[in-house]
Amino acid sequence: MPARSGETIQDARRAPLTLGRLIKSGGAGSVFLLKERPLEVAKLYHPSVDTRVYERKLKAMLELSPDLPDVQEKGVRHVQIAWPTGLLHDRSGRFIGFSMPVLDIAATSDLEHVLQERQARAEGLPTALGAKAALAANLAVMLAALHRRQHYVVDLKPLNVRFYRKSLFIAMLDCDGFSIQGKDERFPAGQVTTDYLAPEFQQRGVKAGQEEAQDRFALAVMVFQLLNSGLHPYSGRPQDASVPSDLPGRIAANLYPYGRGRGNMRLQPSPVSGHQAFPEALRQMFDRAFSDRPGQRPSAEEWASLLQSYARRSAGMLVKCGKDASHQHFSGMPCAACARKTLLANSARATKARATRKTTKAQHQQRPRATGTRTVQPVQGHAMPVQAARPAAPPGLGVRLLMAIVGPLLLGWAISWGMPAYRGYKAAANPSWGDAMMMGMQGGLLLFAVLLFVVFVPVLVLGKRP
Ligand SMILES: Nc1ncnc2c1ncn2[C@@H]1O[C@H](COP(=O)(O)OP(=O)(O)OP(=O)(O)O)[C@@H](O)[C@H]1O
Ligand SMILES: [Mg+2]
Repeated sequence: MPARSGETIQDARRAPLTLGRLIKSGGAGSVFLLKERPLEVAKLYHPSVDTRVYERKLKAMLELSPDLPDVQEKGVRHVQIAWPTGLLHDRSGRFIGFSMPVLDIAATSDLEHVLQERQARAEGLPTALGAKAALAANLAVMLAALHRRQHYVVDLKPLNVRFYRKSLFIAMLDCDGFSIQGKDERFPAGQVTTDYLAPEFQQRGVKAGQEEAQDRFALAVMVFQLLNSGLHPYSGRPQDASVPSDLPGRIAANLYPYGRGRGNMRLQPSPVSGHQAFPEALRQMFDRAFSDRPGQRPSAEEWASLLQSYARRSAGMLVKCGKDASHQHFSGMPCAACARKTLLANSARATKARATRKTTKAQHQQRPRATGTRTVQPVQGHAMPVQAARPAAPPGLGVRLLMAIVGPLLLGWAISWGMPAYRGYKAAANPSWGDAMMMGMQGGLLLFAVLLFVVFVPVLVLGKRP
């Protein structure tokens, strides 16, 4: 039976606890408030979950807690990690889940949201390098504390890591999904995400005993993303068709293009990358993290000490940009945020110009081509309107009216004047040459009048204007 609000459960000492509001239901269990314990919540496993393994895993977690106490800042308690505080049972004493400290989810955001700069700005999340360095340092500190106890996150990725928006402290949830070291047993993690999976695990997965190498790799990817405007260290510009288009494929092929050496010939760095404005020590760490020798990967401890030196304001390793007060850069290095801004503005301008040219070209091609059209070359990117040559237009209304009146009159005159003259000429006994010429002219005039009336007048009067 799935757990419901209002139900009574028991803690490890058989003390009754009442389930409050359901906070959220996930893939493994449902998280409820606890009426008697306002600072804790209960995660109760779904009936489909094999609780026998979880019971042993939870006991191991309770025996070997990481050294990550709550932090107080300006009177506010920040839970760093939702580590189990006790086992929970139903009324018959069956194991059903565990209690853990309640985390103020509303005060936190996940790291995925901070990586996309536009989204971060829209949500009021930090975008400056100093804040990102602090987040990276805090994440490394948290992992170093877990690793000291030989616990590993394994499915480490920005979406699974939350942080307090005000203090930039990290908050970790879903710890029962980590790989946990028990007294003589390792409890593996259930999931991985291939965009953050080390090259050596892409094919065969992460085996017991190899989890730290995986966490070290995923941490380095996240640090790179935090310090390089969300850019994944295996993104870039492929130079030939053999380069995999997906990140896992590139990770498996060790195609890291931001190294200090000759770089990778098959994958070139993304032009928006700020890696060249990183200090030497940072570049060295990334080169070690993304080399083809997993043994060289820096530990969380090493990352923590380097990143803390950047994040600490007093160290002066990060300075304010002279051009844009919202930017920060590594001391003695150019401002990567400025370079990126210029590059993005130029590329937006170029895209706009290309779109305008495309539209104009499309309009140009859509225009009907009449016979006799003059081809007009576009001038400075603007196509002149193309004028098709028109056939000669029939006359206007005034001329048509005149013709409609004059035509029949002319015909009437020619008939009434010409016909008697012709008859007179034929009847004359001895017509002169002059009479014959007059007659010929009158006949021609008559023919013209008939032609005009029968053909031209109807055409001109009734003809359509184009
Ligand atoms: N300690 C806590 N305090 C407050 N809310 C919590 C706490 N732990 C978990 N939650 C809430 O409950 C949700 C589910 O918790 P959790 O991720 O542990 O469950 P899950 O079943 O393992 O989920 P998934 O399938 O995502 O791994 C979290 O996303 C969070 O919103
Ligand atoms: Mg889970």
